[in-house]
Amino acid sequence: MDKTPRDPSSHSDLVRRLIHHLEAHTNGRTATQRKFLQTVLSINVIASRFDDYTAQHQERVAILALVTGRCLGLSAGSLTGVFLGALVHDLGKIAIPRELLNKPGRLSREESALIRTHVPIGCEIMQHIAPPWPLQSIIAQHHERLDGSGYPYGLTHESIEIEPRIVAVCDVFEALCDDRPYRNALGVQGALDELKRSSGKTLDADVVAALDSLARRNRASTDLFWEQVALEAFEALSSPAPAASYRRARAARHAIPAG
Ligand SMILES: [Fe+2]
Repeated sequence: MDKTPRDPSSHSDLVRRLIHHLEAHTNGRTATQRKFLQTVLSINVIASRFDDYTAQHQERVAILALVTGRCLGLSAGSLTGVFLGALVHDLGKIAIPRELLNKPGRLSREESALIRTHVPIGCEIMQHIAPPWPLQSIIAQHHERLDGSGYPYGLTHESIEIEPRIVAVCDVFEALCDDRPYRNALGVQGALDELKRSSGKTLDADVVAALDSLARRNRASTDLFWEQVALEAFEALSSPAPAASYRRARAARHAIPAG
């Protein structure tokens, strides 16, 4: 198997190697699926040429969603889907002016409405590509929230599929970790604290708990955290079973109290 890169910031290289790993391990994979892996790489190049921040954001969310999905016990097929879907979840942003995506300060109502159109635009583009994994739900639902406050449909709870619920948590976490034109980075612990405030209200509690347990060793250093995620990403594709300790913790959380 490929070795993971030493440089924790080289997520583009890691993502390419993960996709090549998927191509090389073709067990049960159709020709359409193998071809689509190349299409995803092409989309990634287009995204990075348009707005490097969005491309890097998608790459980090993809590897984080992959590792988090493994903690949650997703099947190998679902893990591949969640990784590829996260890698293109903001595809529709190529239709939004770059200046608006990176605008410092508050957005007007009209500007927010324009940015929100990246969801239906991404769905429309992907519909024509017809992906052989169910990526549409990730693009369509990654801004939905459990309490119905999300967009574009205002879906609630279980009507939001598990893959987009994973990507939603990783999307928020990655954005909070990073510096943006309108606020400073919160770091891993600060981002986790924010997620916990939304856990079970707008964001899936199991996914937040999985991310929290994933970060238990590297809360103090954002660089070390991403290095750990990079190391675990290959393991997630080659051995999808979740860690036994996380399975036990999750089972305990969902146990029905006696009496
Ligand atoms: Fe988005």
